[in-house]
Amino acid sequence: MTSPTYRIAPSILSADFARLGAEVSDVIAAGADWIHFDVMDNHYVPNLTFGPMVCQALKPHAKTPDGQAVPIDVHLMIQPVDALAAAFAQAGADYISFHPDASPHVHRSIQAIRAAGAKPGLVFNPGLGLEALDWAIDDIDLILIMSVNPGFGGQSFIDSALRKIEQARKRIELSGRDIRLEVDGGIKADNIARVASAGADTFVAGSAIFNAPDYKAVIGQMRTNLAR
Ligand code: DX5
Ligand code: ZN
Repeated sequence: MTSPTYRIAPSILSADFARLGAEVSDVIAAGADWIHFDVMDNHYVPNLTFGPMVCQALKPHAKTPDGQAVPIDVHLMIQPVDALAAAFAQAGADYISFHPDASPHVHRSIQAIRAAGAKPGLVFNPGLGLEALDWAIDDIDLILIMSVNPGFGGQSFIDSALRKIEQARKRIELSGRDIRLEVDGGIKADNIARVASAGADTFVAGSAIFNAPDYKAVIGQMRTNLAR
């Protein structure tokens, strides 16, 4: 792999929900590259978060202090997928990823996201192999490897995700396509370099950033460790 451009994507799941707009602005000012938006439906996962209206309300906050747009990375943990995926695209989502095991027609869901104007991604739970990529890799822009079981922030990184990231990186290289390889769950400043060595280029971090008193210090430490 030739020197990747790393992206740090704070998950607002661990932000202060009473002041979400300010949290998005603050974490971007602290150096966030993307905003990770965890959508849970109390059906596919045992938790409930926020929908397209909240995404739409946050869209104006998703920009750097000098006005550059910051991508909103929507991670759908919902079933069914298609109708809400289109609603999120209209609400300003840039990337929209879903779990292939949550859709009976994976290819159709990918097409629905693309047709609605967003970049599609597939998400793989810790217990699931990458087989869905066999017939989908040419149609997606993002692969998201779960390093915890979805539903909650603050869980510990599951080490077998590293092997899966390596496998996903090989598949991306074989495809010859420009696909982001993102990892989600238990990412901290002290394990991010190991995850990058396995082949990830985009890192979701919720509790590690939002539970810290100084967002800039954590993001800075993550970048330092990635550069080593
Ligand atoms: C879990 C979510 C994650 C979560 C990560 O279902 O997809 O994005 O917020 O949280 P941390 O970084 O605290 O493990
Ligand atoms: Zn997520």
